[in-house]
Amino acid sequence: MDWGMKNRMRRIFQQDGKTVMLALDHGYFLGAVSRLENPAKTITPLIPYADALMLTRGILRNCIDTKFDVPVVLRVSGGNSIIGKDLSNEDITVSIKEAIRLNASAVALSIYVGADYEHQTLVNLGRLVNEAEDAGMPVLAVTAVGKELEKRDAKYLSFSCRIAAEQGARFVKTYYCQDFYKVAESCPVPLVIAGGPKLKNDADVLKIAHDAIREGAKGVDMGRNIWQSREAIAMISAIKSIVHENASVNKAVEIFNSIANKRKK
Ligand code: 5RP
Repeated sequence: MDWGMKNRMRRIFQQDGKTVMLALDHGYFLGAVSRLENPAKTITPLIPYADALMLTRGILRNCIDTKFDVPVVLRVSGGNSIIGKDLSNEDITVSIKEAIRLNASAVALSIYVGADYEHQTLVNLGRLVNEAEDAGMPVLAVTAVGKELEKRDAKYLSFSCRIAAEQGARFVKTYYCQDFYKVAESCPVPLVIAGGPKLKNDADVLKIAHDAIREGAKGVDMGRNIWQSREAIAMISAIKSIVHENASVNKAVEIFNSIANKRKK
């Protein structure tokens, strides 16, 4: 690995090899989702707690102050929308030149394994890796499932993650699932997990993060379960304690409650 690639990966994955990424790229196909209507208002207070931000160039340029020295994982795929015909019909929408101009530490693209546009998204991944490797830029592949959330089982996710790694992704974002260790075991590059739609119970979010780390994930790249939480700072802090300090679920719940209670006073 050349210095640039190594340094970018090292900016995202901390000294312990783990990361707490904050995902806020949802608008690229969902528009203004709840709590991200005004991204700067919701996200700015959380930036000091995040090891990296995953977002689009539009939100980076317009809503994130340049004073923050936070690594950026830039969403570079798109061309679809939730009201369009097929979510899997994505392409590369941002150049590597633009990613460098924005001082990105990695670029992110979704693959849709088993979907109608599987071939297109996998070829996109290969093309992006070719260009990104030339620039020393890591590629994060996201194993997207579109509207078919039920696809998220160990068999499907390990299949998708392995294909992403085989195509050259430097790290992969996927979902937590039962028997997640099988997904982690068969993927030769670091895995980070998404949170998925907002869960009702805060402890359930912490349990997912905890179990994913215990079973081999190198971090999280969560969005809605953090910034849609009634106590977003408490939630990201509790998740950090799991990822970087191996906190138990009970300990993380304690941290969550203690920060949330202090903030209420
Ligand atoms: C969409 C994404 C999102 O960043 C990802 O789903 C993470 O956010 P959440 O934790 O809200 O699921 O990559 O394709």
